[in-house]
Amino acid sequence: MKSLLLVENLAIEFKNRFAKFRVPDNISFTVFEGECVGLVGESGSGKSVTALAIMGLLPKNARITTGRIVFDGIDITSTEDHPRGRKMSMVFQNPLNSLNPNMKIGQQLCEVLVENFKMSKEEARKKVVETMTKLGIFEAEEMLERYPFEYSGGMRQRAMIAMAMLCEPKLLIADEPTTALDVTIQAQIMQLFRQLKSSSKTSILFISHDLSLVAQIADKVIVMYAGKICEISPTRKLFTDPLHPYTQGLISSIPDLKKRESKLHSIEGSVPSPLNPPSGCRFHPRCDKRLEICVQQDPPEIWTEERFVKCWLYEKAGV
Ligand SMILES: Nc1ncnc2c1ncn2[C@@H]1O[C@H](COP(=O)(O)OP(=O)(O)O)[C@@H](O)[C@H]1O
Ligand code: SF4
Ligand SMILES: [Mg+2]
Repeated sequence: MKSLLLVENLAIEFKNRFAKFRVPDNISFTVFEGECVGLVGESGSGKSVTALAIMGLLPKNARITTGRIVFDGIDITSTEDHPRGRKMSMVFQNPLNSLNPNMKIGQQLCEVLVENFKMSKEEARKKVVETMTKLGIFEAEEMLERYPFEYSGGMRQRAMIAMAMLCEPKLLIADEPTTALDVTIQAQIMQLFRQLKSSSKTSILFISHDLSLVAQIADKVIVMYAGKICEISPTRKLFTDPLHPYTQGLISSIPDLKKRESKLHSIEGSVPSPLNPPSGCRFHPRCDKRLEICVQQDPPEIWTEERFVKCWLYEKAGV
């Protein structure tokens, strides 16, 4: 498989008048062509910042201090000619923030094609109707004439996915695309992502705080905790043989409907503040397998051909 996106030793520093902190802090991973990669971790672990860095859309108070991002063979870490919009696009949690409330949906979607591909208005409209229909927006011609407020939450997210897919990107980043939706609509949008995955060549980076959602679609899962990656694994292996104690905790927190457990397991404690991360392993205050060394020293990074784990437990034993 050919690598499409390579994130290598990436660290991002946030700075204001009072403090400085790094999230993510030295992370590396690859997305291969046609692959769907899940990025999971509790809120605040650095998932969205990582996505924004890949898109070249970091806020002004953040900068890449080390590492590089290579996309489609080109180093885009600090490029002025960023491929977003043409070869790479993103779907956000709240489509209302990304849509212009004063412009008809059709006009907004057509503009993407007119601007990026210099299409005529007629050509663009034809392609927009085709894409919307494919994504389950019926009577697309009529829906194009409506404003975002006239769409339901689920339809707005469909329109955002249509906008992201119009350019047939090589990479689609979906950041918590269903978190703002109710459960039935969430299931429909997940079905849409599965359909996109099987019918297009687009690679997907699917971000969520919910491991069970990620598992529905991802070929491979990256588990993030407090700015660091603790495990990367093919999805099936992650569930049958989770290596990192944090991953193990996440998996045992997923309710098993068949077992009808009265009490759900949860990981004690909460994600540390990036301003003052714990010494050694950042997960050590919550880890029930903690060793003495975990408190003092950053864990080693252990790579095999298809898995990665950052934990002292595997230093000698291996993976
Ligand atoms: N614009 C910003 N200014 C300051 N801190 C930020 C900004 N964006 C994100 N952060 C901080 O970076 C950390 C990671 O945030 P984020 O990537 O949004 O987490 P996640 O998406 O995993 O929930 C958080 O502690 C957050 O407070
Ligand atoms: S390095 Fe130590 S504290 Fe961290 S996850 Fe592994 S065993 Fe737990
Ligand atoms: Mg986020």
